Formats: sequence, structure tokens, C-alpha cells
Amino acid sequence: MRAKQGAVSGPPLLDSALISASADGLVILMRGDLEKVLFDEPAIHRRLDDMAAQISNDYRDRELTVIAVLHGSLMFVADLLRRIPLPLKLDCLSVASYHGKAQSSGEVVFKQITLPDIEGRDILVLDDILDSGSTLAAVRETLKTARPHSIRICVLLSKKKQRAREVEADYVGFEIEDKFVVGYGLDFRERYRNLPYIGVLRRKLLEQPRK
Ligand code: IMP
Ligand code: MG
Repeated sequence: MRAKQGAVSGPPLLDSALISASADGLVILMRGDLEKVLFDEPAIHRRLDDMAAQISNDYRDRELTVIAVLHGSLMFVADLLRRIPLPLKLDCLSVASYHGKAQSSGEVVFKQITLPDIEGRDILVLDDILDSGSTLAAVRETLKTARPHSIRICVLLSKKKQRAREVEADYVGFEIEDKFVVGYGLDFRERYRNLPYIGVLRRKLLEQPRK
């Protein structure tokens, strides 16, 4: 059966003026919500080349088990893992700590109850960003209960700030100022994840009531 083609009908998600915009047009409109672009696509990919080379070297004699923290790490994981030419296993964890706000609530909810079988394995946790540290501290503690051989943490971004929980990443893509960023997997209220670059979201958007 042929799939129906054309625009999907239903209540508009965005302003009516945007409904007929092309995909490029929508990216440009999302760009308008950014104060500035911090890392464009080539800069991200160049950094991933370096990170992947370092990880591949560090784990060259071991079988790596990657645990991706969803959803923010999606793009990062897909692009990084394709640069690591080692045998590895991939599993995912789904957690939430922001609950639609721009600040971590500190309460980390595991949306996925069963943990992967990681006993005796070398674990590399991949997440989008290290902010208050609550998420990765909770992930690390939870994974430890499954008795892996080792756990390391790799993040694309790390905010330079005092953390609520003590946690350091072993691999960091970029250190950034303490600003709210979106794109390349990172969201604000589930939007902007599909931007191919990373930028600072305009402050006034953070303060708007939830629609
Ligand atoms: P933490 O628990 O405060 O370290 O935050 C971890 C999670 O909060 C990340 O995995 C992101 O999903 C989200 N987060 C933190 N800072 C930002 C940001 O600047 N933009 C988008 N999401 C963020
Ligand atoms: Mg996340």
C-alpha cells in the first residue's frame, strides 16, 4: 500500500504563519529563538573525531558497553559511535530531572525500570550535558548496583559551575558557560532537538508559561 503524501493535517503546533514553511524555513525560525550559535555542525563533528579517537585508544583491548542516557544524547551517541571502530554493545536508559523547567529539579526519575545486564562489563555512559550533576550521579549509583567492572562518563557538554552532586566526566566534548542551550539532541520542553547545531536559547523563551 502506498503511503499518503502531503502535509499532515490536524491542529497546528506552531503559529499559523509557519505552517507552510519548508523544512529549511522551520530551521531558520528555530534559529531565531537562539541568542547565539555556540557550535555549528562542522565544529561538533571535528570534536567528535577527537573524542572517538581517544575512546577507541583507551578501550582498544576491552569490549565496551555503552549506556546512552535518553533522549538528549540521541544525536551525540549516533554520531560518536559510528566513529568508534571497536566491538561494543549499546543499551539505553531513560531518565528525567528537568520536568519542563530550565533548572534541574534534583529529583531524577528512571523511566525505564529494568537495568541492562552489565555485571563485569566496562561501561561508558553517554549523556548530552553535565549540569547540576544530579542525573549522572544517580545514573552512576544505579549502574554500580549491577556490579560492572568499570564505569566512565562521557558528555558532549559540561557547564562550568558549582554542581549539586559531585560527578566528573572522563570525556568532555566542550566546556560551556552556565547558559541554557538547545539543539543537536538538547531540548527545551521537547523542542529544538532536531537543530543540527547547538546554541543558547533566548532568555525570554525560558520564562514563558508552558503552552
Ligand atoms: P543535571 O542532572 O542537572 O546534570 O542535568 C542533566 C540533564 O538535564 C541533561 O541530561 C539534559 O537533559 C538536561 N539539561 C541540563 N542543562 C541543559 C541545557 O542547557 N539545555 C537542555 N537540557 C539541559
Ligand atoms: Mg539528558
